[in-house]
Amino acid sequence: MPRLTMKAALAVTFLFSAMTTAVNSAEIVSFPKKDWSWQGVFGTHDRSQLQRGLQAYRSVCAACHGLKFIAFRDLMDLGYSAAEIKAFAKTIEVTNEEPNDEGEIFKRPARAADYFPDPFPNKQAARAANNGAYPPDLSLVVESRVGGADYLHALLTGYTDPPKGLKLGDGMYYNKAYPGHQIAMPAPIMDGSVEYADGTKPTVNQIATDVTAFLAWASEPNMEARKSMGIKVMLFLFAFLFVLIALKRRTWSNVH
Ligand code: HEC
Repeated sequence: MPRLTMKAALAVTFLFSAMTTAVNSAEIVSFPKKDWSWQGVFGTHDRSQLQRGLQAYRSVCAACHGLKFIAFRDLMDLGYSAAEIKAFAKTIEVTNEEPNDEGEIFKRPARAADYFPDPFPNKQAARAANNGAYPPDLSLVVESRVGGADYLHALLTGYTDPPKGLKLGDGMYYNKAYPGHQIAMPAPIMDGSVEYADGTKPTVNQIATDVTAFLAWASEPNMEARKSMGIKVMLFLFAFLFVLIALKRRTWSNVH
């Protein structure tokens, strides 16, 4: 029996030390917290910011990153009309799922029900165009990264010269916010990268903020519906509590 206990103790020690090494080797990068309009119980998205973010995604990020879980018709949420969405979708080419009568797969202008297309036909082509690195789909990126929107904003504004003496890998760029600090994505945003339809000044910070808001919306397009349902449920429960109290009083009113 003592042998077994010994073995168990050893196993626990081993596991524990493995865990602490794992934590130590993953460098923790901190980044500033920003006030985002959609945070908190009553937080909602700012429609004009989302529209600017969509514009930034299309003019900059869409060259390398897909947004496969968002259909054009979902953009109704950003305040566009059905006609505006139809016209916007038409400007983007997608691959038809079914082949034509000659058996060829063909491209056509998108319809409202189509999803944002991938910029590359497959992963290999995406890697080949990006120095071996794969630009991930951005649909869920805000939800899936530690730090969420704060991280994404810090990443997009985090490009600097590397510290003296650090040799960057081939085709790698220095970024303060990226874990490990070497990223294969070149700084995507410059001042003036986007020409905003609403006349907002397109600084790096402005574009990074807008595109982050847009991608946060894309990560959870029904957040506002979820929140308003939550508030309704709370109000209902509150009202129901009074009904129960009144009922209790009435039931017991004859008991002396
Ligand atoms: C020229 C192509 C290119 C453009 C344009 C581009 N990216 Fe990237 N992006 C990449 C590549 C390549 C990677 C993978 C980097 C790596 O693995 O080192 C990447 C990675 C990312 C990541 C993942 C970072 C992580 O934590 O893993 C995010 C988020 C991202 N890009 C957002 C954006 C946004 C937002 C834009 C538009 C403002 C944009 N990218 C524009 C090529 C691009």
